[in-house]
Amino acid sequence: MIEIIKTLTETYGPSGNEARIRKVIKGFVGKLADEIKVDALGNLIALRKGKGGGKKVMLAAHMDEIGIIVNHIDEKGFLRFSKVGGVSPRTLLGNRVEFENGVIGVIGAEKMEDKEKTPPLDKLFIDVGAEDKEHCPVKIGDIGVFTRPLVVQGERLIAKAFDDRIGCAILIQVMQELDEVPHDLYFVFTVQEEIGLRGAVTSTYGIAPQVAVAIDVTRTGDTPEAPKMAVSLGKGPAIKVKDARMLSHPGVREALIKAAVQAGVPYQLEVLEGGTTDAAAMQLSREGIPAGVVSIPCRYVHTPSEMVDFNDVKNAVKLLKSFLTSPLDW
Ligand code: CO
Ligand code: ZN
Repeated sequence: MIEIIKTLTETYGPSGNEARIRKVIKGFVGKLADEIKVDALGNLIALRKGKGGGKKVMLAAHMDEIGIIVNHIDEKGFLRFSKVGGVSPRTLLGNRVEFENGVIGVIGAEKMEDKEKTPPLDKLFIDVGAEDKEHCPVKIGDIGVFTRPLVVQGERLIAKAFDDRIGCAILIQVMQELDEVPHDLYFVFTVQEEIGLRGAVTSTYGIAPQVAVAIDVTRTGDTPEAPKMAVSLGKGPAIKVKDARMLSHPGVREALIKAAVQAGVPYQLEVLEGGTTDAAAMQLSREGIPAGVVSIPCRYVHTPSEMVDFNDVKNAVKLLKSFLTSPLDW
């Protein structure tokens, strides 16, 4: 699984520009699906047919990642940019971004009066080492992403884009390990989650599932002076109760808890103050769909160095397998 995680996290794929990561995921799931398709927005939908008597279940992990988009190039070839998704200027200075054509840029800042202050986005620029505007290998509208290799340090993993390539890796692993179940399972690798859950809107409408579960990262309360939150790294996957945009369906939530207990997997209950997942859009699709979330505790979300615990990842796979083998009645 580590090899899959490495490939997924190191692949380029910002919101709206997911062609490359989609191709990589398709390579992993193509042989494991009965049907596979890509919808108009770019969502990758892999269907595993059930043996009958079950429900239509949608499992979603978003394949897009946050990034920056070039909106101006000056005469000297320095780029100005705005953000694609939740990018904080605090994470940018001195960091490197990679464009789809492989060009690497360094983020620099203008001189500021107050040297202690974080430079705001409009004081930052990207230097791709161009001689001038004419020789700049990047153009307006190109999107860059953080670039970092996966680090495996004991059970802790560090990478960019664990949000939500770790969810994609978990879905791939579930597809590999799961025997036939009664339910029709739609494994959906969604696009444009980071800019407003857009891929989840269209894919859920198209599939019209009876049960929907998103797999995504959540924040933790276990770092120095962290906001109070009862989620820690390594204490099990988190089952969402509430986030900024949804309350999980009580039936789905309880079924996920039961699945964890049955699988002998530790779990945590998640109440997240800021942020949300594809499940918020899935839940409000059509006439409403019972939805829940399995969250992977993750430190430093939306920075180039996100950290998860591999045990939580493996336990999320077990939890989902247990959930999908249960009748899903409430
Ligand atoms: Co995110
Ligand atoms: Zn996410």
